Amino acid sequence: MPGEGLDSGTRTRSVRSGEMSNNRIHAVVSDIVNGIRQVLVRHGVTFDEYRAGVMYAVKTGEAGEIPLMLDVFLNSTVSDIENAAYGGTEGTIEGPYYLPNAPIIPNGGEILTYDDDRNVPMVVRGTVKDLEGQPIAGATVDIWHSTPDGYYGGIHNDIPANYYRGKVLTDSEGRYFVRSTVPVPYKIPDQGPTGALLEMMGGHSWRPAHVHFKVRADGYHTLTTQSYFEQGDYVEDDCCNGVRPVQVKPDVRENGEKVIENDFQLAPDVIASRAA
Ligand code: DHB
Ligand code: FE
Repeated sequence: MPGEGLDSGTRTRSVRSGEMSNNRIHAVVSDIVNGIRQVLVRHGVTFDEYRAGVMYAVKTGEAGEIPLMLDVFLNSTVSDIENAAYGGTEGTIEGPYYLPNAPIIPNGGEILTYDDDRNVPMVVRGTVKDLEGQPIAGATVDIWHSTPDGYYGGIHNDIPANYYRGKVLTDSEGRYFVRSTVPVPYKIPDQGPTGALLEMMGGHSWRPAHVHFKVRADGYHTLTTQSYFEQGDYVEDDCCNGVRPVQVKPDVRENGEKVIENDFQLAPDVIASRAA
């Protein structure tokens, strides 16, 4: 059994640990197991229920949905931990659809969208600064979001990979500005065990409409975040728990264009405080 021997602090562990030391693996995994044990006791979980849970995990693996299910429930918490560790603008989940090679869009230019995209035009603009409020020139603001039908370029339905995503570099005053069209709410894959579980829990598989950002500059901690639209559907009950209040943007329109404004602050690439 994978859980066997977890309480033995003295046993030599030969697990290949990636970035985690064996001590840290021991600390984290024993706490996970103990946490689950407490839940089982609190709810008086029966052996049949336990077996059903094990089989659900098997089914989730067979459907290839282990990453999806874990991300739905846990990724946002890891983002919060990183936010607390680094400081700077509050980030949130990356989601599965970031592509590193998005086209460079000139500052002031347009992200590629469908010719027949009738969604409201959107301006995405703001600044990138350091924690002292000094502008960061030449920072990369990588932006990606859904099509008007809720898909992602380079991922779904043969949409070209250079559509609905692009990188813009900040100018000498740390400013960036691009045009696109507003995204729509997005339904995560809902035909498998993850969607079924969310439904059994009385939930759903929708995320509010959102614009993704990844902001990078040499010497700074990369910020991964999203912007949401005030009053938008699912802003209050994102299936991925990825919404933080500062990321919800007011309904600002200028000349018929929706404006999404973010003044990002990047923290130095050093962990200021590490959660034990
Ligand atoms: C998922 C999709 C997204 O576009 C996103 O931002 C977060 C999660 C998903 O399919 O899990
Ligand atoms: Fe997304």
